[in-house]
Amino acid sequence: MYLKNFCLPFFLSITLGFFSCNSEDSGTVSENEEFIDEGEGKVVGLLDNVEIKEYVLKNKNGMEAVILNYGGIVKSLLVPDKNGNLQDVVLGFDSIGQYLRTENPYMGAIIGRYANRISRGVFVMDGRSYTLESNDNENSLHGGIKGFDKVVWNAAKKGNSLRLRYVSIDGEGGYPGNLNVEVMYELTDDNELKITYAATTDKPTPVNLTNHSYFNLSGDYSESVLNHILHLNADKYTPVDETLIPTGEIARTGGTPFDFTTPKAIGEDIQQVPGGYDHNFVLNKLGDSLTLAATLYHEGSGRFMEMFTTEPGVQFYSGNFLDGSLTGKGGKPYQKHAGLCLEAQHFPDSPNRPEFPDTILQPGEKYSQTTVYKFSIK
Ligand code: GLA
Repeated sequence: MYLKNFCLPFFLSITLGFFSCNSEDSGTVSENEEFIDEGEGKVVGLLDNVEIKEYVLKNKNGMEAVILNYGGIVKSLLVPDKNGNLQDVVLGFDSIGQYLRTENPYMGAIIGRYANRISRGVFVMDGRSYTLESNDNENSLHGGIKGFDKVVWNAAKKGNSLRLRYVSIDGEGGYPGNLNVEVMYELTDDNELKITYAATTDKPTPVNLTNHSYFNLSGDYSESVLNHILHLNADKYTPVDETLIPTGEIARTGGTPFDFTTPKAIGEDIQQVPGGYDHNFVLNKLGDSLTLAATLYHEGSGRFMEMFTTEPGVQFYSGNFLDGSLTGKGGKPYQKHAGLCLEAQHFPDSPNRPEFPDTILQPGEKYSQTTVYKFSIK
């Protein structure tokens, strides 16, 4: 259950006037109503006669993020290196058409209704069985065939922030309940890309939202990320079966290739992990405060990224399925390990794992998550 102590935030929010709350229906997610489409969105494509637009967020240090209303995709993110040179540190495509192709492996997108896998696309809730769309072996991955990464969101920009809204209707992808979702992207003057998620529902439903950006801090996607130094604030992780579904065990990372508690190169032990890293790490934390999940460092450029999240887990995916078949930005192919994802999340397959932190959102509750990617130089 999310937000178990709902009364206090409810009254605080009324006082502060941030969001309204209707406990019976899926309700308005927030009152970020001062956001207006300033007409700044540039039309870059069409999907079923709906305009795909891109929005540019800038901060005072020259950082720039380009975000699409399609899938809430972070299309580019310009970050300075140690010499002040701005380079794009996220993988993606030059043309919108490439984002629309089914081969697009969730580049930069918002993932939902349930990020990561649900075993065999089935779960039981309150004695009733629900069948989702299976799209990854027999499993349901990242919301199914048409997840939140493949829909056009309602976008409105204000200053350095972009507000995205989407209503996922009852039954979409097999999920119960109308879900009102709001995602806010903010590019702060502290060189942070801050992502805030909120959702409300009118029926109990699993919810697990994330962002699927592939990072390569070198800014040169022909260079693999195996030389990046990763620190994961996780003494434990969830081992998986051959279809990447957790076995249920919560294992210690210490003394295994999964130990990133002391920063190490991603390539150091990757040969010992069949297929490469694609695992949920259990973050060292109590509760849902915003804490350090990971750091990532690229020595050549000096770029350093810190990731903070309110979530209990992070999926570290080392770009194992990239195989050179996708042409990336600048016409270069994305080879294996050309980028890596750090996806803040609840644990995979939680609706089938009562022992994992609960992912069922109830009517009257509010799902909320904050994840921050902060950039600096070392
Ligand atoms: C996630 C999954 C990976 C893979 C990628 C997309 O990160 O965990 O197994 O499916 O998405 O290719």
